[in-house]
Amino acid sequence: MFFVFPSAEAIASYLSQELYQKIQLNPCMVLGLATGSTMEPLYADLAKRLQQQPLDLSQLTTFNLDEYIKLPPEHPQSYAYYMRQHLFDVLGLCPQQAHLPNGVCTDIQAECRAYSAKISAAGGLDYQLLGIGTNGHIGFNEPLTPFDSLTHVVQLSENTRLDNGRFFDNFADVPTHAITLGIQDILNAKEIVLVATGAHKAQVMADLFHSPIDESMPASALKQHPNIRICIDDAAAAQIPADQLQHVRE
Ligand code: F6R
Repeated sequence: MFFVFPSAEAIASYLSQELYQKIQLNPCMVLGLATGSTMEPLYADLAKRLQQQPLDLSQLTTFNLDEYIKLPPEHPQSYAYYMRQHLFDVLGLCPQQAHLPNGVCTDIQAECRAYSAKISAAGGLDYQLLGIGTNGHIGFNEPLTPFDSLTHVVQLSENTRLDNGRFFDNFADVPTHAITLGIQDILNAKEIVLVATGAHKAQVMADLFHSPIDESMPASALKQHPNIRICIDDAAAAQIPADQLQHVRE
């Protein structure tokens, strides 16, 4: 379950090659995407690969995990902006195929219901990419989120707002709420890959490793999934027993 790579770049290269091949084999793939620092090397590698060897992406559909409430898509810290900047604009993906929850809609509850329904209508997620928060959140599913949750509004924990505060000028500007895919939506994906890199993720990786399947550790829900891989670098693996790790050295 825990695959260890020598660096964040090695994970990015491995997963970008895997994604490239999957899209090549199945151009109608439905891909679940995450934002955050962890994904940046992967998106950079994938964008480069697709620029060097273009594929027809017109049938590809993507769904992002989450979006801040009250940040419009043109706000530089919105996840819509992040995705355009890191992936969508480079790949030429249009809004009709690259979906994010709308954090500035008038009826948030209707938006949540519609988002889960849109994923089901697309045939479900074939492959879900995940990062992880230092408190174990996946998407923005904070500790104690029910494992049977669908897309919902979440009040961000102080821990998450502090972690994400690095992207904002003032802590007061960090949104307090977000829309996130629920844990059940994530578990419905056919295949899941969680990525964690850096020494600051070593503690949460150890917590996840030792955790029973319990709502106090949202990512522990993944332990019940039949097709989950956790890809980490040496720094993030530092506190997991060595005999439980599978090393990937290419
Ligand atoms: C973002 C998301 C979050 C992040 C997590 C890690 O779409 O779903 O769960 O993956 O907060 O963020 P980084 O990668 O910035 O450490």
